[in-house]
Amino acid sequence: MDWGMRNRMAQIIKPDGHCFFLPIDHGYFLGPTSKLEKPGETIKPLLPYADALFVTRGVLRSAIDPLKSKPIILRVSGGTSVVGEDLANEGLTTSIEEMLRLNVSAVGISVFVGTPYEKETLLNLAELVNECENFGIPVMAVTAVGKELEKRDARYLALCCRIAAELGAMVVKTYWCENFEKVTNGCPVPVVMAGGPKCETELEVMEFVYDGIQKGAIGINLGRNVWQHKHPVAMMKALHAVIHKKATPKEAVDIFNEVKNKK
Ligand code: 5RP
Repeated sequence: MDWGMRNRMAQIIKPDGHCFFLPIDHGYFLGPTSKLEKPGETIKPLLPYADALFVTRGVLRSAIDPLKSKPIILRVSGGTSVVGEDLANEGLTTSIEEMLRLNVSAVGISVFVGTPYEKETLLNLAELVNECENFGIPVMAVTAVGKELEKRDARYLALCCRIAAELGAMVVKTYWCENFEKVTNGCPVPVVMAGGPKCETELEVMEFVYDGIQKGAIGINLGRNVWQHKHPVAMMKALHAVIHKKATPKEAVDIFNEVKNKK
């Protein structure tokens, strides 16, 4: 791996080998998602606990202070909306010049395996890897399921992650599922977990994150379970402890309660 690629990977994955990405890219197909109406304000108190932000160029330029930013993973796929015909019909939205101009640490693109747009989105990934490798920019593939959340089982996610890695993704973001080791065991590059819709309890979040880490994930890219929570800073601190300090779910919930009750 070239120096630039290694250096960029080290910006998003910490020396302990783990990472906590904070995604605020949801608006690219959902519009002004609840609690992300003003993303800059939402993330301000959360930034100290995040290792990188996952964001589109529009929100980056309008809401993130370039002097106080975390490393940026730029979302570079899109072109569909939640009210449109098919969420899977994504294309590439951002040029390589823009990625360099914004000084990003990595880029992220969704692939939709098993949909009518499987081939197109997988070839988008391959093309993006071809372009980004020339400039030492790591590509994170996102195994997206659109509205079909029930698709998220180990067999399907293992297939998606492996294909994304085969096409050259340096990191793969996928969902946690039962038997998560089947997903990580079959994927030759680091796997990061997304959160999905908000869970009922804090313990539920800490438990799936902890389980995924035990089973080989290197970290999380978790949005709604943090910034849609009533106590987002407490969630960040508790999750940070699971990712970087080996906290158990129970210890993490204790941290959550401690931070929450301090206010
Ligand atoms: C949305 C994404 C998000 O980055 C990803 O789903 C993580 O966010 P959440 O934890 O809210 O699911 O790719 O397009």
